[in-house]
Amino acid sequence: MIGRLNHVAIAVPDLAAGTAVYRDVLGAKVSEPQSLPEHGVTVVFVELPNTKVELLEPLGEASPIAAFLEKSPSGGIHHMCYEVDDILAARDRMLSEGARVLGDGEPKTGAHNKPVLFLHPKDFCGTLVELEQA
Ligand code: CO
Repeated sequence: MIGRLNHVAIAVPDLAAGTAVYRDVLGAKVSEPQSLPEHGVTVVFVELPNTKVELLEPLGEASPIAAFLEKSPSGGIHHMCYEVDDILAARDRMLSEGARVLGDGEPKTGAHNKPVLFLHPKDFCGTLVELEQA
């Protein structure tokens, strides 16, 4: 069911420093920062030939990545995002397989203005999974 790897998201304590690593050390193309208050993050996109890396920095008091960075202060891989053709069909399949869909189970609009859902890491090999309708 899942298709392309849309992105790997890395939580970082300092977005400017993370940008410098990917742009200046690794030589990648990195976007301007984009604040997403409804998701509690500021993000930059690293464009690679075959996928993207998103660097996420906490935004606001209740950022969903704050606890992650407390446990991993230098940053780390936060989630993997896989593309699906039909987000509601994908959700129903996950539920019928006994997997947990986070939140109220309704898709939200993600960083690329596409509907997304998150799946419980304990049901997916210890990794938070984002599904994005392609
Ligand atoms: Co993501």
